[in-house]
Amino acid sequence: MNKLNIGIVGCGAIGGSLAKAIIKDFAKEARLTALYDIDTLKSAMLVKKLKIRPIVSIDLGGLIRRSDLIIEAASAKSSFAIAKSALALKKNVMVMSVGGIVQGFNLLSKLAFKNNRKIYIPSGAISGVDALKAASIGRVKNVTITTTKNPLGFKGVSYIKDKGIDLSRIKKDTILFSGSAKDAVRYFSQNINVAAVLSLAGLGINKTNVKIIASPQVSKNIHEIKIESHAGNIFTRTENILHPDNPKTSYLAVLSAIAVLKRIFKPVVIGT
Ligand SMILES: NC(=O)c1ccc[n+]([C@@H]2O[C@H](COP(=O)([O-])OP(=O)(O)OC[C@H]3O[C@@H](n4cnc5c(N)ncnc54)[C@H](O)[C@@H]3O)[C@@H](O)[C@H]2O)c1
Repeated sequence: MNKLNIGIVGCGAIGGSLAKAIIKDFAKEARLTALYDIDTLKSAMLVKKLKIRPIVSIDLGGLIRRSDLIIEAASAKSSFAIAKSALALKKNVMVMSVGGIVQGFNLLSKLAFKNNRKIYIPSGAISGVDALKAASIGRVKNVTITTTKNPLGFKGVSYIKDKGIDLSRIKKDTILFSGSAKDAVRYFSQNINVAAVLSLAGLGINKTNVKIIASPQVSKNIHEIKIESHAGNIFTRTENILHPDNPKTSYLAVLSAIAVLKRIFKPVVIGT
């Protein structure tokens, strides 16, 4: 079997963990070919930590040309352009910054179809995407996700600044946002990839409901999902341990991307 050449865009918490996993867990099936980060120090630091030495690309185009599968682990601002460039050059793509692609998702899907390539979107830090996908074969009536995080997890979010919310003064559970996934991903793009994934798997960004709560009592990122469907009602709660390199990122998000790679390479596929 020819090895799949994988390139990673973004060498932070997720990109770094995935690079290590590709080398350690998928040595027979894949080759980590290239890394790219707009912060060249980040890519250089990651290469130093790895046992093998992938090429550090100086631009996105160089990485795409060297790879069969491009993993985007960069930012919501850049994920659409990265996915579009990869698909246009007939490469498969895995997207982690899902908040950045929901608006233009139809265009990406059409491009993937036209070029016979795939867009992989891991479930990320939530449970229930499997059941939602199955329920959506029938009729889904309502999907709501409630995300609860420590106020510190919302540091740097411009919506918080614009609303004049002082995160350090939050002493009890406080609803920061309640509305559609469309607005949630616009205002909280770095925090709410899970709402984007849920929208794509279910009712879309206009009809998926999102509530965001800041709670000084919690240290984990908690996602509760309620689904009402003709197949029955589904409720899931995921209490996420945070990634040691980035407290905004849940460790499960990394594992879910590794699980998608496993799905690509291994002969047995479990789950929807
Ligand atoms: N799908 C999910 O469930 C989920 C969960 C957590 C995080 N995420 C998203 O995944 C992305 C990566 O998360 P992380 O924790 O690794 O973040 P991080 O901040 O630790 O790392 C991101 C890296 O990407 C680099 N980068 C930014 N823009 C770039 C660009 N245009 N081109 C190349 N490199 C670029 C940064 O310099 C940084 O090194 C974020 O957008 C985050 O919101 C998704």
